[in-house]
Amino acid sequence: MKYPIMTAAEAAEFINDHDIIGFSGFTASGCPKAVPTAIAERAERFHAEGKPFKIGMYSGASSGNSMDGALARANAIWFRTPYINHKDFRARANAQDAMYFDLHLSTPAQELRYGFLQRPNVAIVEACQLTDDGEIVPTLAGGILPTVCRMADKIIVEINESIPAEFRGIHDLYEPKDPPYREALPIYHVTDRCGSDCVKVDPKKIVAVVKTNMPNEVGKFTPLDDVTEKIGENVAKFLEKELLEGRIPKEFLPIQSGVGNVANAVMAALAKNPHIPNFEMYTEVIQDSVIDLMEQGRIKAASGCSLTCTPEKINEVIKNLDFFKKRVVLRTSEISNHPEIARRLGLITINTAIEADIFGNVNSSHVLGSRLMNGIGGSGDFTRNAYISIFTTQSTAKDGCISAIVPMVSHTDHSEHSVKIIITEHGVADLRGKGPVERAHEIIENCAAPEYRDQLRAYLASGANQHIPVNLKTAFNMHLAFAETGDMRNAKF
Ligand code: COA
Repeated sequence: MKYPIMTAAEAAEFINDHDIIGFSGFTASGCPKAVPTAIAERAERFHAEGKPFKIGMYSGASSGNSMDGALARANAIWFRTPYINHKDFRARANAQDAMYFDLHLSTPAQELRYGFLQRPNVAIVEACQLTDDGEIVPTLAGGILPTVCRMADKIIVEINESIPAEFRGIHDLYEPKDPPYREALPIYHVTDRCGSDCVKVDPKKIVAVVKTNMPNEVGKFTPLDDVTEKIGENVAKFLEKELLEGRIPKEFLPIQSGVGNVANAVMAALAKNPHIPNFEMYTEVIQDSVIDLMEQGRIKAASGCSLTCTPEKINEVIKNLDFFKKRVVLRTSEISNHPEIARRLGLITINTAIEADIFGNVNSSHVLGSRLMNGIGGSGDFTRNAYISIFTTQSTAKDGCISAIVPMVSHTDHSEHSVKIIITEHGVADLRGKGPVERAHEIIENCAAPEYRDQLRAYLASGANQHIPVNLKTAFNMHLAFAETGDMRNAKF
């Protein structure tokens, strides 16, 4: 190999205070690991000498402990976008030690190209293959790798030898032209391809190659419990009914399924339902459950941005690579989450809410309006453009002290105009074709936890006698009761 091979610590020397770095990866998959950790150590050395050291960070989505975790612990993050889910970064953002701004995951690459965001001067990417003429083959994710590699002056490549070069061919990397030259995306089926299996860069930009062998930093899900299992069953029964009544075509439609424990339970329930035919996924993250269901033939094919799987599951994919390469396409987030394709393919989108209000607005990202949880992720890309958009949530959190159904969401990520169906362990609220009052009854009676229904009914009755019966004086009484007494059940209406 003609590039300078060095240690992660040596490569980190290329990074200076206020550099802006574009990282490969999407979730904890496909992110560089050794170099970000070495940058965090470099930052700590600077800080110990009283010198400033913080970097700006772009990536496909969240990352793992070696990247977001290490850099957050070192207080080495100046700004970060989009999506996070590491507790140490969450703590930094909530303490305003690091600036975080949230974006729909289909948009960071184009916002960089449009010049809305500051240009990354360095790209740090994880690859399973690098050729002497500058072909970079990513590992487990598409993310925003093509765009940041093209925009950056310098590229540092981590070659992760735990992912074989034979992964080449699983990706479809396509960077659209910008308006007014943008063309239609020629993706008509889940596994259609329109891009390249690698990213080609000017080899002169590659300043360092670091060899690693680090496993994917994706952890296992919490096992299903009665509540998450019931939510999954309710989703499956709802889709079965839509299918039988002809509102979903008999061939079925591709599923997009969100992240987290509830999303995992939903996949399991869909697979178990005998009335739902074998299906495809056009989604963002391909989790362990999808791999299992592909092996069983329940899922026929999956397009996504990342293989967000545990190391054990990645090893299964590697052992059966020919099988998976025929059925899996890994795209950039710009294409995996593209509104044009979501609308064209007619996606059934299933995402998880932190809270929903009785009129159908959904909060996916902030607890009590102000504390960042993870971010909006791709939920907005998919919800707004879905064939049918579903939000799931447990009806309560924190041992029943929080109701996930509230009079007014404390932060709005998805508005009543995009949210069609809300599902909890208690049932399904179908908001299609209903006005605000009818929606409120549907959500309270079918989805709210029984112990919160009287409060929500009382709130609804006290609202303004106008189009939406909001009561501005008491809309946040449940949130205030939790903040003040630790239990929303103490709210008065
Ligand atoms: N108020 C306060 N806390 C709440 C809450 C509420 N209304 N609802 C849930 N929580 C807390 C839970 O108690 C839990 O806290 P813990 O970590 O301290 O135990 C945490 O939020 C996660 O809840 P859980 O029920 O385990 O949900 P999950 O793992 O299914 O994740 C989201 C739910 C909303 C955080 C997650 O789906 C997400 O990040 N969504 C946004 C991005 C997205 O939708 N991406 C998909 C696009 S492909």
